[in-house]
Amino acid sequence: MVRAIYPGSFDPVTNGHLDIIDRASKVFNHLMVVVLENPRKISTFSMDEKVEMLNKIVAPYKNVEVDSYKGLLIDYAQKNGTRILIKGLRAISDFEFEFQMALTNRQLNCDVETMFMMTNNKYSFISSSIVKEVAGYGGEIRDLVPSLVYDQIIKKLRFSE
Ligand code: PNS
Repeated sequence: MVRAIYPGSFDPVTNGHLDIIDRASKVFNHLMVVVLENPRKISTFSMDEKVEMLNKIVAPYKNVEVDSYKGLLIDYAQKNGTRILIKGLRAISDFEFEFQMALTNRQLNCDVETMFMMTNNKYSFISSSIVKEVAGYGGEIRDLVPSLVYDQIIKKLRFSE
């Protein structure tokens, strides 16, 4: 049984994330999608809101579960008994920071491996921040996020106006 963790801030989950979930669910017996805090980013959605959206989105996948954790990813992996972390790579711009995180995580626990999946080129330009920025200025984001996330973004932006 090969288990993997797909960690992220998922603020909110995009079609790019969903593509990685879909592909990783076919490679691993069990995939745990874990919402963590990224101290470098200010979240638009609460942890509970992100988990709720993800739970609905992964419902069709029988081998995918969603969880959240406040703390170090590596501690979560250890508690969960999972040795593989999956990260999506979109472009060279992602590489430097992902490289730093992967090496830091390995320094913290050398039994845990980070594995990278290249983005589907259809989604290589999508990020949660870009989606929120475009939506914030009234731009069209329907093709960039799952439809239930679209509704949540619109609701959130309207309420915060
Ligand atoms: O989707 P993101 O924002 O690129 O995900 C980054 C995330 C949440 C995976 C990263 O910030 C993280 O692992 N946060 C948990 C705290 C932690 O373990 N920090 C050390 C990472 S080297």
